[in-house]
Amino acid sequence: MVGTLDRMTAVPLFAPITLRGVTARNRVWLAPMCQYSVDARDGIPTQWHLVHLGARAAGGFGLVMTEATAVTPEGRISAQDTGIWTDRQAEHWAGITGFIKEQGAVPAIQLAHAGRKGSTAQPWHGRGSVAPADGGWITSGPSARPFGDLAAPVAMTVEQIDATVQAFAEAAKRAADAGFEAVEVHAAHGYLLHQFLSPLSNRRTDSYGGSFADRIRLTVRAVDAVRAAIPERIPLLLRLSATDWADGGWTVEETVELSALLSGHGVDLFDLSSGGNDPGQQIPIAPGYQVPFARSVRAKAGTPTAAVGLITEPRQAQGILDEGSADAVFLARAALREPAWPLRAAHELGVAAADAPYPVQYRRGAYPA
Ligand SMILES: Cc1cc2nc3c(=O)[nH]c(=O)nc-3n(C[C@H](O)[C@H](O)[C@H](O)COP(=O)(O)O)c2cc1C
Repeated sequence: MVGTLDRMTAVPLFAPITLRGVTARNRVWLAPMCQYSVDARDGIPTQWHLVHLGARAAGGFGLVMTEATAVTPEGRISAQDTGIWTDRQAEHWAGITGFIKEQGAVPAIQLAHAGRKGSTAQPWHGRGSVAPADGGWITSGPSARPFGDLAAPVAMTVEQIDATVQAFAEAAKRAADAGFEAVEVHAAHGYLLHQFLSPLSNRRTDSYGGSFADRIRLTVRAVDAVRAAIPERIPLLLRLSATDWADGGWTVEETVELSALLSGHGVDLFDLSSGGNDPGQQIPIAPGYQVPFARSVRAKAGTPTAAVGLITEPRQAQGILDEGSADAVFLARAALREPAWPLRAAHELGVAAADAPYPVQYRRGAYPA
């Protein structure tokens, strides 16, 4: 007679995973997704965020990650983004983390600074820059080089870099106090930290640009500051764009080297995405197209990874774990279509309904055996 845990671990996608002092009930995780839904422009999460995140926690995801949450007002992608640069924002997040935990999921926050890709409109109102006169702001970045046709940023001073590191640390502390049980630093998709990593956007000649050691300096400092600000038991995740998919850009080899280094700085899991820093990027999009990045980092840095990107089918997700490419998968768009994707996946992979992550209120709707 196999026990409950044995039955569940026979399906690795639904086996628990522990990072530091936090255990996720399974390895199907909700990817960070901006909702551009803070109408009051105060960075305070709304009922939309509670419902968006809460529905997926009730839908069986093991870890539920917030959208890119800004560490400063200028660090937002749009004025409608959430933030965690004030205690009041943190108080509102605390209600949401409490609900996610009640559903048995791990509440995680993605801490972000948009840099030169900030001050844009909600995507459904067009993607261009919003001028300061229209409620936007002047963006900053490593160098005064714009992203595509967005407004040009101002190159950050060393004092502004120091203040940004401090902002990541304070945001991380607030996040832990608000009940988040995992913190992800966003260093992907062409946002501030990625802008410093990539030679395409970083043309600095001081100690924050030029060589690999100098381009990674801000990311290493942000990781160290966040790690120092959160309790020992809380895992630290890092999202990286493994490649710029553009000539002269950030490379997979650099990603592996940085991951190996940061494994020694307390990063517990690498979340491998790609692209976002160069409008000319050429991405060979296909199911699971970013999985090889998770596999390389896992093999060469020896640290757990999560794969993301066009993972849509339960057997595909299971296969990524079976082949040793990653320790967890993040789902984004499939989870927008189907908030309870993990419940269907559990059924299709043969997890008994009694062992699947249904809220008690939903048990009568379990897939028939
Ligand atoms: C609506 C939407 C918003 C997103 N916002 C974020 C974000 O805030 N932070 C981030 O790192 N990635 C963001 N992404 C990227 C996703 O996390 C994910 O990496 C990407 O969509 C690929 O996964 P998928 O094929 O499962 O959608 C967003 C994606 C979507 C569709």
